[in-house]
Amino acid sequence: MKRHKPSILNTILAAFLALFCLSANAEVDVDAAKALAKQNGCFRCHGVDKDKDGPAWKKIAAKFKVDPKGEEKLLHHLSSGEKAKFPDGHEEPHMILKSDDPKETQNLVDWILSL
Ligand code: HEC
Repeated sequence: MKRHKPSILNTILAAFLALFCLSANAEVDVDAAKALAKQNGCFRCHGVDKDKDGPAWKKIAAKFKVDPKGEEKLLHHLSSGEKAKFPDGHEEPHMILKSDDPKETQNLVDWILSL
């Protein structure tokens, strides 16, 4: 008869993943993220918890946090000028984030995802 082995490997894996996520979040520099968003004028269309022309970033975070590709998708969104749908129904290319440093962009995306 086969004995059912406790899946120690899975437990270890889960612990590592949790640690990794925690440290990833701890690295977010909130002030830098806000400053970059301000510089770019993102807050004209987005609030942290208020909808403006664009959805509140907390709503966006809720949607993309559960998506394993969320971070990748947001990075793409901010660099590609893909179509954005406005509340009045018209569409226009979304603003492309201007930053001299890809790490800054990454930090802003991580901050949005942490909301
Ligand atoms: C002129 C208004 C406007 C500005 C400025 C703007 N956004 Fe947006 N943003 C929108 C709209 C509208 C949507 C909704 C797009 C959709 O659902 O099609 C959106 C969506 C998003 C999303 C979600 C993307 C998705 O795929 O659901 C993120 C993240 C985002 N904006 C971040 C930013 C950041 C960061 C900046 C500053 C660089 C910024 N936005 C500047 C209007 C704007």
